[in-house]
Order: sequence, then C-alpha cells, then structure tokens
Amino acid sequence: MEKRKQVLSCIQPTGDIHYGNYFGAVKNWVQLQEKYDCVYGVVDYHAMTAPYTPKKLRENTWELIFNLIAVGVEPSNLFIQSLVPEHAELCWIFNCFTSYGQLSRMTQFKDKSKNQSSSDDSFISAGLLDYPVLQAADILIYKADYVPVGKDQEQHLELSRNIAQRFNNQVGQEYFVLPETLYTETPKIASTADPTRKMSKSAGEKHYISLFKDDETRIRKKIRSAVTDTGENKEGEMSAGIQNLFTLLKASEKITEHNQLMDGYNSGTLKYSELKEAVAEALVELSASFKVKKEELLANKKEVKNQIKASSAEIRKAAQTTVKEVKDLCGIMNVRF
Ligand code: AMP
Ligand code: TRP
Repeated sequence: MEKRKQVLSCIQPTGDIHYGNYFGAVKNWVQLQEKYDCVYGVVDYHAMTAPYTPKKLRENTWELIFNLIAVGVEPSNLFIQSLVPEHAELCWIFNCFTSYGQLSRMTQFKDKSKNQSSSDDSFISAGLLDYPVLQAADILIYKADYVPVGKDQEQHLELSRNIAQRFNNQVGQEYFVLPETLYTETPKIASTADPTRKMSKSAGEKHYISLFKDDETRIRKKIRSAVTDTGENKEGEMSAGIQNLFTLLKASEKITEHNQLMDGYNSGTLKYSELKEAVAEALVELSASFKVKKEELLANKKEVKNQIKASSAEIRKAAQTTVKEVKDLCGIMNVRF
C-alpha cells in the first residue's frame, strides 16, 4: 500500500484558543486526520520566546491539549514539544543553515519585537528571532508533506523550505521533503472589534473570541458590538467587518443561512442585526458542543495526560530517526549505547 502523506502542525500554549485559530487552522487539523498521517504539537518551547511564567506555561500546555481533544483532534496524534527534545537539537543544526538576514526580516519577528520593546520590560530574546528555525525543525523532523496553518504563517513556511533546500544542497541529496502549506477556506479571520487586523490573543481581550472561556453572554456581546463599517470601503464594496461576519457564518457550516443573508445583502434588504444574531447563534452552538466534550475529558484528567505522554513518546521515535540521520549526514557524532 502506498504510504499516506504526512501532515504536521503546531500551536503555541499561550492561553486561550480562539475562533481565528479554529477556523483558520485547527478545524482543518481535525478533518485531515481521515485522509493523512497527522501529528500535531503543542509547542511549549516556542511559548518561552515571549514573557511568561513557568507555572502558567505548564498549565496552559495541558489546557490546550484538553481543548484540542475536545474539538476533535485524536489524542494519539498529539504531542508536547518538550517531550520530543530532538526538536531543539535539530533547531541548533538548522541555525547553521539559516541566514541571519532572512530571520531579521520575518514579519512576525518585527511585529512581536516591536510590541515587546514597548512593554515595561523591553527585553527581546534571541529565541524570538530564532523562533522560525525551531518551527522549521518541528516541520522537517517529521518530513511533513503538508502543514495546515493560517495565512499569517506563509513566510515561516517559506523559510522552512529554504532551510530544507540549503541542507539538501550541503549534503548532496534530497533528504528533506519541501513542505507545502494547506489553508482552510477561511485562512484569515479578522478581529470583530477591528476588522482591519487579524483575530489574535496578543491584541487584547476584545480582539478575539475564545472557544472555551467566553460564555454565551460574552460571545453575543462581542458579536453584537462587531464593527461593521470602518468608513474606508469604496462605494458598493462590502466592508471588512461585514465580510468577516459572513466568513464566520460560513466557517460555522451555516451555509443556508449564509446564502439567504447574502441574498439580502445583495438586494439591499439585510439588517446587520440579523446577520449578527445568526453569527452569534452559530458560535454559541459550537462552543456549547466543545464545552460538553471538554467536561467529559476533565473527568478523566489523569488518563488523558498519560495518553498524551505515551503518544508523545511514540511520535518521538520518528523524530529520533531523523535527527540520527541528519547528524550522520552533516558530520556530527551520534551517541551509541
Ligand atoms: P497561534 O495562536 O498564533 O499559535 O496560531 C495557531 C494557528 O492558528 C496558526 O496556524 C495560525 O496561522 C492560525 N491563526 C491564528 N490567528 C488566526 C486568524 N486570525 N485567522 C486565521 N488563522 C489564524
Ligand atoms: N508559528 C506558529 C504560530 O505562531 C506555531 C508553530 C510552531 C507552528 N511550530 C509550528 C505551526 C510548526 C506549524 C508548524 O501560529
């Protein structure tokens, strides 16, 4: 039988998971499991690149694991990055195949370093600069063919391909597969409070809608106060805010309602309050189903944690094989017991 294609993606344990993450990437993770060999990581080493507290990091890591299982990710496909230390080892090797100039031009680095330099503690770590190299290690260590992520990760994926190519050239063989990005139909969800920017945790509470932490009242409030007119759109053009609400409705699989409301928009009879009501209803319904599943999981906390430790150990085997081969290829010693 032909080997199934390998899928990999990761998410940082930096607190809540929001509808930008879900519709932009994680929903795809769930669906891809049917067709491909999938591994999905909660990347705690990445979360150390911004200011953090150790206790909270460990709590967030487990919390995210429970959240991902609750939305449909198979526990056997999940790993915790720090339980596969080879990622960090491969990152070092890849550092030597990465240009400093390219790293300093990464949009996410520029944005995050700007944010961090304006905070009280203006420390910017070398880890923040190096972050995309660790991401390349996450991807290439499993020889991933496809990486389902949101549009904001495009540049990081390009860097991963550059590193793979440079490595292949150095060792004189096509060792690494060049990974391709997979997008959902909605790779970019905007903030409802400011539709000109992406939905994101780092922008603050009103700029994202949490799957688990926002209760029904809060979800409805955030959608009711969604900005519909930014005053910048051209005559006859749908505003970014309205587009985003339609995107959210479609991503929630409310296709009939989406099409009816779109007809209303096209004929000029749509009341924005109706569109908002439909979106709020769809998100409340989704969150309710996720929360039920999460409660069940939390009743078996210990078993679930043990399951994830075991799946991480299993997934680690492939990573160990890659790192061993890479070290042989680039003239580094391997420990032999
Ligand atoms: P992060 O929360 O930054 O670790 O992102 C986890 C995943 O969600 C990545 O694949 C991102 O590309 C995706 N993502 C984050 N924010 C958005 C957004 N507003 N729209 C679409 N995808 C997103
Ligand atoms: N950089 C990604 C983000 O900010 C998270 C991430 C880390 C990732 N390693 C990865 C995504 C590997 C895909 C593959 O969302």
